[in-house]
Amino acid sequence: MSAVVLKVADLRVSYRRSGGSFLALEGVGFELIRGQTLAVVGESGSGKSTLAYACAGLLTPEQGSVELLGRPLARQRAKDLRWQAQHLQMVFQDPVSSLNPRQTIAKSLAEPLLSVAGNARPAAAEISKRLAELIAQVGLRQDIANRYPHELSGGQCQRVAIARALANRPEVLICDEPVSALDISVQAQVINLLLELQQKLALSILFIAHDLGVVRRIADQLIVMHQGKIVERGPARQILSEPQHPYTQNLLASEAKLDFG
Ligand SMILES: Nc1ncnc2c1ncn2[C@@H]1O[C@H](COP(=O)(O)OP(=O)(O)O)[C@@H](O)[C@H]1O
Ligand SMILES: [Mg+2]
Repeated sequence: MSAVVLKVADLRVSYRRSGGSFLALEGVGFELIRGQTLAVVGESGSGKSTLAYACAGLLTPEQGSVELLGRPLARQRAKDLRWQAQHLQMVFQDPVSSLNPRQTIAKSLAEPLLSVAGNARPAAAEISKRLAELIAQVGLRQDIANRYPHELSGGQCQRVAIARALANRPEVLICDEPVSALDISVQAQVINLLLELQQKLALSILFIAHDLGVVRRIADQLIVMHQGKIVERGPARQILSEPQHPYTQNLLASEAKLDFG
């Protein structure tokens, strides 16, 4: 099987605005290698979420292509969407609003398990077992299952959102600023969790952040985006020690320091 799990080529996305159209992404391409973390860094408005949505098939680019595990993303047929959802999942910035406020954590976590089609749908006992496994895997206590999102902290909600994304054992995880909404003291804990899960589950992660402090620990490869274009790319260690582009140098100078304990 190919080492490339997500292959993005020459993406172009523009948004309609009152004054005309606004180019949010242009000529963006990269390959995410199995088991690695590719970090995408750039200031707010540089096109990072647009890129994440295009990779997850949540928007269709005007130009370019996205291949997941060697298959072009297709958005028409329910069967294709189910296949994609089994192999690629997203974790969003705002953990509280990414969970249904009216559902217990157990219900939210069971949803993706129940959405599996046909004969693959697991029995009730299997679902309870998997729920307990998922809750333990993200470092939460089992009694969280009967609680509602508003009873949890932001960090706990993000752990639930991660558990939910991992429910059907996807190969690829796209994390769009997964710690930006969290207290600084909690950010490092959630990054450590992602790192641990990645190693345990051999996940491939597209990790989006607006500052370098957050990606320093987790990134293998790094892409720096500015105004919808990639301005620098390469092994994270190399870019973080010898940034070439002035924009990257500025990002490095304003880096927030996290305490990873
Ligand atoms: N639905 C939309 N309609 C119009 N403009 C948008 C829309 N979504 C994003 N944009 C614009 O596209 C640019 C990139 O946005 P986004 O991808 O959200 O950047 P980032 O995630 O890096 O902050 C920004 O200038 C933003 O204002
Ligand atoms: Mg964004």
